[in-house]
Amino acid sequence: MKIIIGSDHGGFDLKEACKTHLERNPRWDVTDAGVFNLDPAGYPKVAHRVAQAIAKGEYKRGILICGTGLGMGIVANRYKGVRAGVCHNLFTARLSRQHNNANILVMGGRVIGVGIALEMVDLFLKTRFDGGRHELRLSQID
Ligand code: RB5
Repeated sequence: MKIIIGSDHGGFDLKEACKTHLERNPRWDVTDAGVFNLDPAGYPKVAHRVAQAIAKGEYKRGILICGTGLGMGIVANRYKGVRAGVCHNLFTARLSRQHNNANILVMGGRVIGVGIALEMVDLFLKTRFDGGRHELRLSQID
């Protein structure tokens, strides 16, 4: 599965940890959309890059990480076809897939620890959308 990951400086360390984790699994084909160092950088640029790529269908799933996850989530959800879920734990990561069919996982690098984040990434990638009643609700968003 093709995955695109990106962060600002606030999410850089967690993004690097997630990328290294994903690259260990040959099932995932990971592209890093930046940033590539800890220099202060605005979150919108990377969020636009990742969300556009998902909206165009170039990647199946995206991961965005800023300090809180909030800025990245706000930007990404402006794109039609993008469902970015700001998640803080395993419960929200799982439900973002089962109920919301989220295609971008958004996390806060200053909010959660690396261990839980890596488990959230795995859960987000392996959990299927439940469909059924949630299909109708998704159709009502636009
Ligand atoms: C950067 O300081 C911080 O504002 C950013 O990472 C993010 O939390 C914005 O929502």
